[in-house]
Amino acid sequence: MPAQNPALARAENFARAHGVQIPILLAPMAGASSPSLSIAVANAGGLGSCGALLMKPEAIKAWAAEVRAGTNGGFQLNLWIPDPPPTRDAAAEEKVRAFLANWGPEVAPEAGDATPPDFAAQCEAMLEVGPTIISSIMGLYPPEFVERMRAKGIKWFANVTTVAEAKAAEAAGADAIVAQGMEAGGHRGAFDAGRAEAAMVGLFALLPAVVDAVTVPVIATGGVADARGVAAALLLGASAAQVGTGFLRSPEAKLPNAWADALARAAPEDTLVTRAFSGRAGRSLATAYARAAMLPDAPRPAPYPVQRGLTQAMREAAVKSDEIAKMQAWAGQSAGLASGEPAAEIARELWDGARALLA
Ligand SMILES: Cc1cc2nc3c(=O)[nH]c(=O)nc-3n(C[C@H](O)[C@H](O)[C@H](O)COP(=O)(O)O)c2cc1C
Repeated sequence: MPAQNPALARAENFARAHGVQIPILLAPMAGASSPSLSIAVANAGGLGSCGALLMKPEAIKAWAAEVRAGTNGGFQLNLWIPDPPPTRDAAAEEKVRAFLANWGPEVAPEAGDATPPDFAAQCEAMLEVGPTIISSIMGLYPPEFVERMRAKGIKWFANVTTVAEAKAAEAAGADAIVAQGMEAGGHRGAFDAGRAEAAMVGLFALLPAVVDAVTVPVIATGGVADARGVAAALLLGASAAQVGTGFLRSPEAKLPNAWADALARAAPEDTLVTRAFSGRAGRSLATAYARAAMLPDAPRPAPYPVQRGLTQAMREAAVKSDEIAKMQAWAGQSAGLASGEPAAEIARELWDGARALLA
């Protein structure tokens, strides 16, 4: 019998060490982390996840209770590390509101005041839930929170977008690094929000460089959406693959139809990175609104989370009318590979296919 491929052995060891059967992680996706999606992935042997950014403590606890009722498998809870409050500019916001009125309902002047839930209270709720893993994006947890995670035996997975961020995360005590290539759907995880577009590194360059720079395991994310991507990530040194967009067309993700259909049609060049939805850079489908917001005569988006508040009415109306043009339709560059099969099938195919390719 031939010796096992070292990349497969590394991934299987990682999975075992984290209480899962297969090294396939559902990516945390704020607003698209339905309990049913995590239950399906965890029951297929992978790791479930919750992007808890917009959830109050009670909602975080309710999410975990629902997932635990449906599976014995593990999951990660994920938060964004908050930035200092933004500087407001009433005149600039007025221009954004006027622009948005062409795309959705009138935007109330106070719409930009909306603030995300309290970070400290969310952190307490996560500790109370006590998941296998807590992950971060956009920065690092403070040392005292890292200590408290460690005391409870919770592992910390830190999302990074550069080698420098990976080294900082390891030095701060991260148990594993999630290397997020620029292909990724959703927000860029850059620690410095202002440098998100300038520091865009593709996964094929980022992953081996991060693997060489740190001693902790590295998880690959961004554009991995089929077994070929998983196998390639493992060969480049990853210990697991984290997949977001690749699960979004599954029935358990419960996406609006227009978004799910547009993902299926998207070529890699049909996405763009824009601040026009939230004020932070994120990769979405190149919809009519996202493209118009990038034209030279369009107003500069307000900072996060002001822009998120300003676009809320348009985004909600788009979901109600199922109109892709105005929808916040996050998508990675491999969207066209996303399958509409049940999530458990997708998870199993990702791993079985990768194993076959690496056998
Ligand atoms: C709809 C959506 C929401 C996301 N929200 C979060 C989030 O709240 N926290 C986070 O760490 N990453 C978030 N991400 C990024 C994913 O965790 C991951 O980096 C990305 O999906 C990987 O690229 P892929 O979509 O090509 O698989 C989000 C991605 C998407 C598509």
